[in-house]
Amino acid sequence: MSQLTPDRQDRPADDPIFALNAEATRRRGAGESIVNATLGTLMDDDGGLLVLETAARALHDVPRDEWAAYAPLAGLPAFQRAVIDDCFRGRDDLARCATACATAGGTGALRHAVVSFLRPGEAVLTTSFHWAPYRTICDEHGRRVDVFSMFDQAGGLDVGALERGLVQHLATQGRVLLILNDPCQNPCGYSMTGAEWRAVADVLARHASRGPITLLVDMAYYLYGSAKDSRTHLDVLRPLLGRIGLLFAWSASKSFTHYGLRVGAIVACEPDEVQRRSLQAAFTFACRGTWSNCNRGGQALVTQLLVDPALARGCDAEREAAKELLMGRVRAFNARAIPAGLRYPRYEGGFFVTVFCDDSDARARRMREAHGVFVVPQRDSLRVALCSVPERDVARVVEALAD
Ligand SMILES: Cc1ncc(COP(=O)(O)O)c(C=O)c1O
Repeated sequence: MSQLTPDRQDRPADDPIFALNAEATRRRGAGESIVNATLGTLMDDDGGLLVLETAARALHDVPRDEWAAYAPLAGLPAFQRAVIDDCFRGRDDLARCATACATAGGTGALRHAVVSFLRPGEAVLTTSFHWAPYRTICDEHGRRVDVFSMFDQAGGLDVGALERGLVQHLATQGRVLLILNDPCQNPCGYSMTGAEWRAVADVLARHASRGPITLLVDMAYYLYGSAKDSRTHLDVLRPLLGRIGLLFAWSASKSFTHYGLRVGAIVACEPDEVQRRSLQAAFTFACRGTWSNCNRGGQALVTQLLVDPALARGCDAEREAAKELLMGRVRAFNARAIPAGLRYPRYEGGFFVTVFCDDSDARARRMREAHGVFVVPQRDSLRVALCSVPERDVARVVEALAD
């Protein structure tokens, strides 16, 4: 007899991506030539983890007591300030009415949003292609995921489908938590255009008075987009301030290549001070009720990386180099994938791209068996993590995809 409650008895413990990665590593270890495009961490061209040196060095300068002591429940005040400044960069109207709470990575921010803006049984609204753990987080907390079809016939964001989903959620649950991962969406690599952001903002504005609507922008890859300023969508969202909830899931994992440090934050913009305090209290309570408080040393480190001019410059320069490495792979992919007839969304940068196909499980298996190329099968598509594929192997990945 299992002591687990019935709903916990059949939980899948093995994440399919980690299982594929383990198989790729085993076969490579046995001497096979393998291209592993499964894992979402940025690797250099020699297959090593690409780490920003400035961040790695500064980590050792964080004093012992910062690592050893507890952090305040909502995070170090200096960290909260630094994250808000980084989120809004000179957009003082937004920064002034922002509140931030430290979370265990962007994942923790998503978790806090799901439990704070939806009642049990209610559903998040997000794109049909999305980061799979959105479902895990919702499931773990008794919430659900509803999707709208991400792309229209022209290959752009289907804002009409988004609006239909939003209207339906207003009708059925009386509230909306919309999650958009932009730029460099995982798993598609898609970055929304300015016009798409404006169209989304119009939809949100049109329905703002019909019930509580919250938009969460998942910023996991915000420093890897091809746009010069990765924060221009904020100017489009600005008129929504005070009309809908504006949330940002901020993460240091990709921005500072320290995925295991588990540093992130949920940032909310609310002009009304009483409401803002109540948001902060809800997030702080949620921290106490889940992990109590987050990694203090990590927050101290990331604060320094954000506010110390020399460290910030060092990280920016190294990140630019990393981004250029990734862009080389993106260009190599586009140069071959388009002539090969692969169907995939506009891809101008980011860790992943998703190639549309039928029978994705069988195709992924065939790619592993016949080509030694590992990608992640998803519904009607394959996710290719170019972040972990050296440029010299991109042609082989495209050939396997096109086979
Ligand atoms: C789309 C997306 N959101 C959020 C995260 C959360 O990352 P972390 O919890 O490491 O900050 C990830 C990580 O892969 C991601 O791909």
